[in-house]
Amino acid sequence: MGRLDGKAAIITGGEGSIGMATARAFVAEGASVFLAGIAEPELKSGAAELGGNAAWAVTDATDSGQVKAAVDAALDRFGRLDVVIANAGISGAIAPIAEYPEDAFDQTLAVHVRGAFLLCKHAVPHLATGASVIITSSVVGLMGAPHIAGYSTAKHAQVGLMRTLAAELAPRGIRVNTIHPGPVDNEFQHRIEVAATGDDRDKATTIFNQMIPLARHAAPTEIARAMLYLASDDSSFMTGATLAVDGGMSS
Ligand SMILES: NC(=O)c1ccc[n+]([C@@H]2O[C@H](COP(=O)([O-])OP(=O)(O)OC[C@H]3O[C@@H](n4cnc5c(N)ncnc54)[C@H](O)[C@@H]3O)[C@@H](O)[C@H]2O)c1
Repeated sequence: MGRLDGKAAIITGGEGSIGMATARAFVAEGASVFLAGIAEPELKSGAAELGGNAAWAVTDATDSGQVKAAVDAALDRFGRLDVVIANAGISGAIAPIAEYPEDAFDQTLAVHVRGAFLLCKHAVPHLATGASVIITSSVVGLMGAPHIAGYSTAKHAQVGLMRTLAAELAPRGIRVNTIHPGPVDNEFQHRIEVAATGDDRDKATTIFNQMIPLARHAAPTEIARAMLYLASDDSSFMTGATLAVDGGMSS
């Protein structure tokens, strides 16, 4: 018996590092997974790797029509939706506030906040009791850090959306939580670290490891296991929670 047997999930940014690690974990536990993102070659190869239990569509998380179309396509394909993961993300600019570009701020909020809002708006009407909504926030949705005004603001705002929906959907037996990964060993994070420190990748990794009590980055599979916990009935009494998976960084 898999922990997600017969269930169907949609993941925005599903073709990325954490998205694909999560999709692999879900399929291994019996779920079908719909990957919704903007990188077509990765969507195609990701779904092919996952096999017959996967489907995909190019979907800009900030575009209401495209998000609705992806939700409808997932429902057409799988006949149900049990797990909804707002995971699409960009890092935004890394700059002091006075130099932070306004368009980068707007775009970062659009992808993370409007994107999570639109996915919930279009998917929630199709969910039944026992469904789980997960928003991928970040350790910097729980604490601040310099020079990431767009990203950290967006990741905090996702917590507000999560708390609103947890209260709103509890009467229907639908759970809503945020997950807060710390630095993950992937390209998304390494790019941020190189830009933030001005050092090469290895030196930047060492500097970041010193900020993490467990003194290392997470593997994407470690985030995926926490996603699986939130998606499955293992977390059946958990809603409105901020789950830090950050090596102790926010403690
Ligand atoms: N990597 C980390 O250390 C880390 C830490 C904390 C939180 N996060 C969050 O985890 C999530 C996944 O990031 P990741 O580390 O897998 O990086 P990633 O770059 O591998 O994945 C992000 C995915 O989002 C997709 N995407 C970007 N803009 C989009 C849009 N407008 N519409 C739809 N899809 C879009 C990209 O194509 C990509 O596949 C993000 O929300 C990120 O902020 C990452």
